[in-house]
Amino acid sequence: MTKMLEVSKVNYSYGRAQVLYDVSFEAAEGEIVTIIGPNGAGKSTLLNVVARSHKLRRGNIRIAERGTEKLSQAGIVKLGCVLVPEGRQVFSSLTVHDNLVLGGYVSRRSGTAKATIERVFDIFPRLAERSNQLAGTLSGGEQQMLAIGRAMLSRPKVMLLDEPSLGLAPQMTARIMEVLGELRRESGLTIVLVEQNAHAALGLADRGYLMSGGRVLTSGTSAELKADKMVQQVYLGASADPAPDANPGLAPEQPSTALPSEAK
Ligand SMILES: Nc1ncnc2c1ncn2[C@@H]1O[C@H](COP(=O)(O)OP(=O)(O)O)[C@@H](O)[C@H]1O
Ligand SMILES: [Mg+2]
Repeated sequence: MTKMLEVSKVNYSYGRAQVLYDVSFEAAEGEIVTIIGPNGAGKSTLLNVVARSHKLRRGNIRIAERGTEKLSQAGIVKLGCVLVPEGRQVFSSLTVHDNLVLGGYVSRRSGTAKATIERVFDIFPRLAERSNQLAGTLSGGEQQMLAIGRAMLSRPKVMLLDEPSLGLAPQMTARIMEVLGELRRESGLTIVLVEQNAHAALGLADRGYLMSGGRVLTSGTSAELKADKMVQQVYLGASADPAPDANPGLAPEQPSTALPSEAK
């Protein structure tokens, strides 16, 4: 099966502070892979290096079986890999429709943009109803839908999502997970889902990786990870004090020291 994404031994530092240590993971075509781990584990940094919002300095990343060393952020999108960043980052002063149009800009797939926008509206009827509304006035869940819709406009082969469930009510989280499953089924999309919400992520993903302290601690099928002691200690048994809008007990904000330290 085609490896759509192959990340090998990526290291990354902010200044002198190293935050990724030889991180490797992969995703096959049509696979949904999750990367779970506590706050500060390095998950966002990792996705940003793959998408080349951060420079790739040490390590190797192949997308659709091609090397990416020389590619810019736009080059990565053109190759078919798109990032839905943490905190959605929609253009608040533009309408829903114009945000979607911009999503097709980098890959210059304007010829297919109209059809793809229709498709986004099919999947997210709430966006269709709000097509001319300013994105900044949407609810958090609607903004997340828009961020995913905008990413769809680049017609990706691989979609990287950074904590799409963050701050969303359980029902909205469930809907987002459902949509990701539909996208994979319908278009064979490969999905890399970064989440602190391990329940939601392992419910959807085929496989997963547990990260902490800038390292991959363990990996396996979702069933294996759900049964994994470390994963259970960090997430599944832990009951946090969730914000009213958060998923009860599922996404505790924990420092990376909450993991059994240096367990490998
Ligand atoms: N722009 C930055 N400058 C310096 N340090 C950063 C920056 N962004 C993140 N970090 C640090 O890198 C580590 C990993 O952060 P991050 O990748 O955001 O983890 P996660 O997404 O798993 O919560 C943390 O210790 C964080 O404080
Ligand atoms: Mg993050």
